This record gives sequence, structure tokens and C-alpha cells, in this order.
Amino acid sequence: MNSSPWWKEATIYQIYPRSFFDSNSDGEGDLPGITSKLDYVKSLGVDAIWLSPFYTSPNKDGGYDVANPRDVDPRFGNLEDARELITQAHKRDLRVIADIVPNHFSDQHEWFQAALKSKRGSKERERFHFYDANEDGTPPNNWISLFGGPSWTQVEDGQFYLHLFDSSQPDLNWENPEVNADFEKTLRFWIDLGVDGFRIDVAHGLIKEDVLTNHPDPQGLSNALRLDVAMDSDERNALLLTVPYFDRQGVHEIYRKWRKLFDSYSGREIMAVAEAWVHPPVNATRYVRADELHQVFNFDLLTAEFDSDVLFDVVERSISLNATVNALPTWALSNHDSPRVASRIGDEQARALALFVFGLPGSAYVFAGQELGLPDGQLQDSDRQDPTFFRTNGAIKGRDGARVPLPWSGDTTPFGFSTAKPWLPISQSWKDLTIENELADPKSSLHLYKNALELRKEFLVGAGGITWLESSQHGHKSDSLLSYSRGSITVVMNLSDSAKECDAAGKLIIVSGGTVDARDGKKVIPARSTAWFLT
Ligand code: GLC
Ligand code: CA
Repeated sequence: MNSSPWWKEATIYQIYPRSFFDSNSDGEGDLPGITSKLDYVKSLGVDAIWLSPFYTSPNKDGGYDVANPRDVDPRFGNLEDARELITQAHKRDLRVIADIVPNHFSDQHEWFQAALKSKRGSKERERFHFYDANEDGTPPNNWISLFGGPSWTQVEDGQFYLHLFDSSQPDLNWENPEVNADFEKTLRFWIDLGVDGFRIDVAHGLIKEDVLTNHPDPQGLSNALRLDVAMDSDERNALLLTVPYFDRQGVHEIYRKWRKLFDSYSGREIMAVAEAWVHPPVNATRYVRADELHQVFNFDLLTAEFDSDVLFDVVERSISLNATVNALPTWALSNHDSPRVASRIGDEQARALALFVFGLPGSAYVFAGQELGLPDGQLQDSDRQDPTFFRTNGAIKGRDGARVPLPWSGDTTPFGFSTAKPWLPISQSWKDLTIENELADPKSSLHLYKNALELRKEFLVGAGGITWLESSQHGHKSDSLLSYSRGSITVVMNLSDSAKECDAAGKLIIVSGGTVDARDGKKVIPARSTAWFLT
């Protein structure tokens, strides 16, 4: 028995409920759909599932606009379905992580509806950030929403409310103790229903400072904060040091309270992972100090080029920064907010990088469909639903491409996902990428993931730190091999477009693509491929 907590080096499978499996033929995935596919999830070799929001919501931002955080939206089922999902997951020894959204509510939440009906200065308005207009009628400051357009929307009596995201997502005022009390109630509600942990949405955003001060470059700042806007990295980093609404000291007080709440469930090992995109990178470690949260996402791999220098730095930095607070890193190549890794860096590269990352210490997150090597969905503008698309008048396409439903089986779209028209179209070109097809093909991405996760569990979980191999220390500067050893395994990634020799010892146990040959006592790693050797 491994005595360390379950989440330490877990592999966590992110499910976007609307896109996973539709059980009742309305074109949208739902909770019973997930429950019916738990055997598939288990067969991947993952330890836990993280469910993106399934709470009552008008769904203006894919459910991250929560109207009632303690109930299930009818499009996904009901509370009984949630309980059944958790029970069935636990039967299979899969933990369940729920997504909690503390930065904002939906404008349909009863608190916001009450605030609209109440007067300026009322206790109903104090739960949000309501301010009077400037004398000339303009909003209280010049901040730009992360989804584009102003961060302020005016209500009937002339006051404005703050929303860092869509106008339907009013930001909560965390200086008001009622807000924390309500969130603690929500945390307990889901823990009592059986969940094992939380992914905390916009964890770094809760406390705002200088709300009545203009930012010197609001558009630049807003671009710098978007993963999908290209920018010179020095320029981006300089702007990121100036965000008045992210990563304020006060957020840590909140997580210290929450940690006490989690720990009060003795024997349950309730964990939390922060979505905290902060700068400089060292700041992320503050979220995982011993009395705060358990994990913080490292987003670097969502944007990193397939380049040995870049990847060496990302991995080295993440491991060493986390070590300063005795935490282990997290690794994610894709999620519901960013382009799918296979589209971003290429299919073979995505497999190679996944196998490279599965060897590393810490937790690995896998976004449903990543195991199939799915690319981004090809969508017409008329299909799009992401508020970013609308708030930028189509200038930014948004995140729908990563959210296209999963292809399960058969030869024709929608490939068994639903018997109705899916909420986003699934391209016929995904015919070979169905779960059914990939299960039948031993060379598929799906088999690579299954085999890798099994080997990871057998040889690497709990195996301690990594040692970069000689070739990498020089290699990350000159050629294209990156390799490390950990426990009894040596991992070698060849990032170049031609086969490369290396002198890794041991027996080949898995390769992400192509075949590894032996030549003069050396191993030849195929182009754009990673191999593991066991000694
Ligand atoms: C997080 C979510 C994203 C959402 C945003 C606002 O970044 O991952 O999907 O749009 O928060 O809630
Ligand atoms: Ca459905």
C-alpha cells in the first residue's frame, strides 16, 4: 500500500460534461452519460475524474456562470444523478473532483437578481462590486474584460457592476463575509455528497485592489492575459506584473480557511487544485504552501513550443519551484480553454510530449479526447458559442474547438456520442479517431496512453525526483534530445525531425511512435518520439 495521499501523483482525467456522452438524445452530454462510460474511464488507468461545472446555469460561459452552485442543471440531470455518478466512480476506485467557481456568479443567481432590485449601497449590492459612474457617465475604471469589451455593465439606476469575464458573470465581493460563508456551505455540500476534491476556477482572482484606478494600458493587459493572443514574452511578462485584480495577498487568507475545512473531514483526504495563472511563476507556489491548497496548475505546457530549450526550462522550473514549498508539480497539455495539443504542436509531437510528461513527478492531467489524439474541431462561425467570440465581434474565435464532443463509435458523425444533432458538430474526418477504432488498433494514441499510464503506476509513482541525463544538459542547448532518469526508468525524447542516437541503458518498454533500433551499442530514437527504458 502506498501511504502518500491519493492525489500526490494521481493521473486526473478532465471531463467536460456537455461533450462526453449524451444519454438522453438531446445532443448534449450529461451526468448519466458519464456514469455509463466509467468503465472506459477506468480502463485508461487514471485515478480520478475532474468534472467541469454541471450546476444550474444559463450556460452563457459553458456552465462557468453558476446560478445555483448547490444543484445540477437539468441539461445534465439532477442531484440524484450526481450522487449516482460519484457512487459508481468510487466503486471503481476513481476519485471525483468538482469544479468550484468562486470569482463570480451568473447574473441569474438569486443574489444578483436581488441586487438588481435593491438600492445602491444595500446589503444585496454589497455582495458584488457595484459602483457609481464617473461624473462624465463613464464606468468607474478602464479595465477590459478577459472576454473582450468593458469590465463594467450599467444597471437601471446608473450604477455599474464589475465583471472580469462576461457581463452575465458579475464578480463577487470577497471582502463581504457572507460570500465566504456561502462558499463554505457549497464546499461542504459537495463533500457531503461524496466528492474528493475541488478544482478552483480563477483561484487568483477573488480579491481586487485599486478598483477606482485606471490601468495605464488596459488593452495590452487584457491581451497579455489571453493564452490565445500572441505577444513578445518580455512585453507580456512586464504587463503581467501590473494586474490589479489577480494574485492579491488576500486570496491566500481564503485558502487557509478552506484548507481547515478540508482537513476537518478526517480520513477523507479532500484535495484542491488552483487554477491560478500568475506572474512571476514563483508566485504560483504560494497557493500550495503547507496550510493552503494541494496543487496548482502549471499552464506553461499549454503554450510551450516543442523545443528542447523551452521544455527543459518549463520542467526544471516547475519541479524546483514547487520543491521550495514541498509540493509536487502538475502537468497539463490540454484543457477546455486552450487549443488541443495535437493541433497546436502536431500529432506525433503531442504523443511524444505526453509520454515525456507521464514519467515526471507530480500529477498529470488529461483532457478527455486527448488520449485519442483529437485535434481541434473545425467549426463555422455560426456554430460558435463561446462568449469570447461574441464579445470581440468574432475577432477571437474562442474555445469551442477544444469542446467538440467525443467520437465514440461507428463510421458516421456524430459517432455514437448522441442519436440527436450534437451541440457542436463533429467532423466526419474524425472517423478513424473514434474510441471504438482506436481500441482495435494497437498503434493508436489511445493504446499509448493506456500502456503509459499502466507503466507509470508500476514503475514511477512514488519514485522520487528526476536526474537530467548528460545529453540533455548539453543537449538542451545544442541538439534535440531531452532525457532524464527516474527510479528504474530512463525517458528519452527526440524532438528533431530525424532519428537520433543516444546511450540510454536498459530495455525498451514503450515508445510513442516509430521503432527504436539498436546500433553499435547505442539506441536510435525515431524522429518526434519518446521512449522509456527500464534498467
Ligand atoms: C476559467 C475557466 C474558463 C472560464 C473562466 C471564467 O478560466 O476555465 O472556462 O471561462 O474561468 O469562469
Ligand atoms: Ca443529454
